[in-house]
Order: sequence, then structure tokens, then C-alpha cells
Amino acid sequence: MVKQLFNSIQDEISALKKQRNAAILAHNYQAMDIQRVADYVGDSLYLARIAEKLKEDVILFSGVHFMAETVSILSPSKTVLMPDPDAGCSLASMVKAEDVRKWKQEHPGGIVVCYVNTPATVKAESDYACTSANACQVVSSIPADKEILFVPDFFLGLYAQRQTGRKLHLWPGFCHVHARINSEHIEKIKQQYPDAELLMHPECGCLTKSMHLADKILSTGGMVKHVETSPKKEFLIATETGLVEQLADKHPDKAFYPVGDKATCEYMKMNTLEKIARSLEKMQFVVKVPDDIAARARLSIERMIAIG
Ligand code: 13P
Ligand code: SF4
Repeated sequence: MVKQLFNSIQDEISALKKQRNAAILAHNYQAMDIQRVADYVGDSLYLARIAEKLKEDVILFSGVHFMAETVSILSPSKTVLMPDPDAGCSLASMVKAEDVRKWKQEHPGGIVVCYVNTPATVKAESDYACTSANACQVVSSIPADKEILFVPDFFLGLYAQRQTGRKLHLWPGFCHVHARINSEHIEKIKQQYPDAELLMHPECGCLTKSMHLADKILSTGGMVKHVETSPKKEFLIATETGLVEQLADKHPDKAFYPVGDKATCEYMKMNTLEKIARSLEKMQFVVKVPDDIAARARLSIERMIAIG
């Protein structure tokens, strides 16, 4: 077969997308060159819900494994591809289905709320899923006499506990990237840019000591929306650096400063344009959640969606 020549990798991706009848979805943390070839960019839940509505047969998800699984759970008839099968998530790997089953036995009648950053097998053991945008709403919707078991992110759970006043059982999981943003970074950068608004992701490990210093605690999608309407010109962004790049690209009249100097997710950055092209060309690497797990996992996601 004669291999077609393209002027650029972007042209090749565009041709392969048409050939495969594919849409490209990219998470907010992807590098800007990937965000530019994507049809949709956003947070994990927004992208999973968009995927459900797309007419394309193939969804290439440039993000990490649990996000591609969520697309597969909500759109079982589509072929879901990941450019790199090793793009995992340290937080999602901190809890397993058997851990949840054991925890439930220790708390009979307890309601399990899982962050979307979990494997499908954990979602299948959970009563509700939640995102960083709606964890407080999900927790508040659960009857007050019920015990709540929250997995896997300790800091998001702590935030939901403080905001709702509900006592939660917290799993000791954390994201290694957000754990690198510490209170010293927050204090130093606030002194450097005293007029800037501090936007903090609830996965941040410094939340316990520095929550009161944040102007807003928001999901990645929440930060994108907030910056669009805020009259402020300077922002301190306490989350993964891909979002800082996106905000700077969208708002050249505003300044964005990353908090800490190491908040880059190595898993998110495994994806490249070259790997996206090969993924579409070879139809690799397919992510398919088995039907029985997907059916149970979908219930926890649908209960969350019903809350709003
Ligand atoms: P979102 O749910 O906001 O997409 O974030 C996922 C994530 O991995 C945060 O570190
Ligand atoms: Fe997972 Fe953390 Fe990377 Fe988000 S930033 S995908 S939580 S390892």
C-alpha cells in the first residue's frame, strides 16, 4: 500500500479522522497542540457526556484511562481509543473494587460515593459517582442518617465534608501532582501577586492548611468558566499546568501564574500528536468496559447526573 504524504501531522490527523469517522476529545490538561486538533476540550465528565451525543462511530480520547472508560460506560456502542494505553492516574489506582467491598462490609448500610477518578470496577461497587464540580451536591443529597464512604481522594472528600457539614469516612488516596502544590507555594505566590485571584482545585494537598487563602475552589471546568466572567486580570492557578496553558491561550489580555513549579501530570503528557495519528491509523488502543461492569458503573454515574 502506498503511504500518503502529508504536509504536517495535523493534516494527517484530520485525514485519518474523516477516514475513521472519528471525533477527538481532549482533557483540559492536554498539551496545547493536542487541544488544537481536538473537536472538544473540557473536563472528564463534560467530555463523557458530549461523547454520548456524537454521531461519529469512533471516539479518540486524549486524556487518561479512567476518562476513556467513562466514555465507554456511557457510550457502549462506540469504539473508544486511547493514544497511549499506559496513560493511567495515580489517584484512580489508589482504590480497588475489593477494597470498596471490604469497606462496605465494615460499614453495613453505608453509601459509597466515588470520585470519577476511579476505575470502572470501583464505580460498579459505588452508589454514586461525583466530580470535583458536584461532590458537595452529591453528598448533601444523601439522607442524613446514612453513613457515607468517600473514595478515593482524601482532599476532595475533606472539602465536601467541610462545605456540607456531613461527617464522611475518607479513603486516604491522593493525586501525586496536586500533592506537589504545597502551602509554602501558595503563601509565596500570593505575596508576589497580591491582586491576583487564587483558583484552587480541591485535589490540592495544601487544602488542609491553605483552603482559607483560595478565592475560589473549583474543578478544571469551573476555573475555565470563572475566568470568562471575572473582572480580575491576574490569576494564580493551583492545578495541573495544561489548564494554565489553555487559559493563557484563550485570554491573552489576562495573566495566569501556575502555583508550584512541578504540577505537571506525567500521565496526561504521555499523549502526543504522533501517538494520536497512529491510534487512528491502527485503531489502537481500544478501551472497552465489559457489559456487566459497565451496567453497574452506569447506575452510579446516572444517579449523579440526576442530582444535577
Ligand atoms: P476533571 O474532573 O476536572 O476533569 O479533573 C480530572 C483530574 O484528573 C484532575 O486532576
Ligand atoms: Fe490523575 Fe492527578 Fe493526573 Fe489528574 S493530575 S489525571 S488526578 S494523576
